[in-house]
Parts: sequence; C-alpha cells; structure tokens
Amino acid sequence: MKLLHDIIIAIDGYSSCGKSTLAKNLARILLYRHIDTGAMYRAITYWALKNNFIDIKTSSINTKTIIDSLSQVMIEFRYNNKTLSNELWLNETFIEEEIRTPIVSEYTSQISQIPEVRQKMVQLQQQMGQNKRIVMDGRDIGTVVFPNAELKIFMTADPYIRAQRRYDELITKGIRISLEEVLNNIKERDYLDTHRNISPLRKASDAIVLDNSHLTKEEQLEWVIERIKERFPYEH
Ligand code: DC
Repeated sequence: MKLLHDIIIAIDGYSSCGKSTLAKNLARILLYRHIDTGAMYRAITYWALKNNFIDIKTSSINTKTIIDSLSQVMIEFRYNNKTLSNELWLNETFIEEEIRTPIVSEYTSQISQIPEVRQKMVQLQQQMGQNKRIVMDGRDIGTVVFPNAELKIFMTADPYIRAQRRYDELITKGIRISLEEVLNNIKERDYLDTHRNISPLRKASDAIVLDNSHLTKEEQLEWVIERIKERFPYEH
C-alpha cells in the first residue's frame, strides 16, 4: 500500500497488547520503518543489570551510576532481511532475546522512570522519525515523542486476555512461569505506566482507540488499514 504523503504513525497502549506486532505488520505493508520503543527501555535495563547497576538481591537501583554512564549506551535498530524486522543492537551486540526475559520486564518500568533515560530515548526516537515514514510503538509516542503524529492509535485489551497471550508466548520460548505471575506482572506494569510522574501512559486526545481483546492479529491490521484509507490519500 502506497500513501501519497509521508506520515508518522504513533501506537501507544498497555503492555502486552500486541502493539509491536501490529506496528511491525503495518510497517511492512506501508514499507515504513518500525521502531519498538519498549525494546529501547528494555535494552537500557538489560545493560544496567549486566553492569550490576541493579542489585537483584536487594532490588536496589543505582540511579546515579546509570545516569553517569548513559553516554556509554549505544542503541540502534538494524533491519534483518531474514526475519523481515528491525532488530535491536546494544553497543554492537544483538540482544533481541535477552531483553524479553521476565527479569528485564520486571525492572524496565522503574528504569524507564528515570528522567535522564527518557530524555536520551525521546531524543533518539525523534531523530529516527525526522523523515517520517515510521510506525513507532510505546507509551508516550502520541503524547510526548510525536505530539503532531498524523495518526495516533491507543491500544487496550482485557488484562486477563493479555496475560494469557503473554503466558503462551513465554511457555513457547521455554520460560517457566505461572499464569498468575504473568497477570500480576501485567497489572503492576499497568499501574506503574499510568501513575508515573514523567510521561505516564495516557491516551492522546486525538488518538483512536483499538480494543483488541477479541480481535485476531489479521483483524487488527485490517482495522488500522481501514482507518488509514479513510484519512489519507493512497495509490489505488
Ligand atoms: O512495550 P514493552 O512492554 O516492551 O515496554 C517495556 C517497558 O518500557 C514498559 O514497562 C514501559 C516502558 N516504556 C516506556 O516507558 N515508554 C515507552 N515509550 C515504551 C516503553
């Protein structure tokens, strides 16, 4: 599908709603770039864990050292022709698998609340969208990163359905975890994402809501494509 004007598509919403899957599929159809900003915050958390800036025994985070060492973090997305997706590299290392583990998920909500971390990530994200033709997903894309994005989608789904989906995904990957743990993690992350002081998750006033509790991936994609066709001129 070819749009006649280049646009930015911002997809925000709760965790485990399938934002990245939708964003990735949409980017493929439009021949746009997909940026998963959650992966960027996960990467910083992974880096902080690896460098022992987080003590998992006491759950304490050495915020000062993280801030002081932020200049050592280099995050970039590289397109993989085999998987047809944009993959995250941290300091020249491929870390797509490592950033999806429960321990990284657990600490990312806290690491992403550090203002200096957000500042660095938002700056990078804005650079990535300089030439538009981008589908970016996260929590603050339509509100903070690209408040003038041409299309904003706010995704939501029933927490129990999200937990079941996430649980199935983790089990397939061989990660041992209970459904209850996944649900608790989702509820905790929803709370932290919506209650933090800086850039909390909220629906932009001009965003359109997509509740995908009972929609397949294909149906969600169709729904967004319809919304795009209604709003923007495209080549028939
Ligand atoms: O989308 P995700 O579950 O991979 O996001 C991981 C964490 O990063 C989540 O706790 C919220 C945070 N995040 C954020 O604060 N801002 C964003 N734009 C994207 C993610």
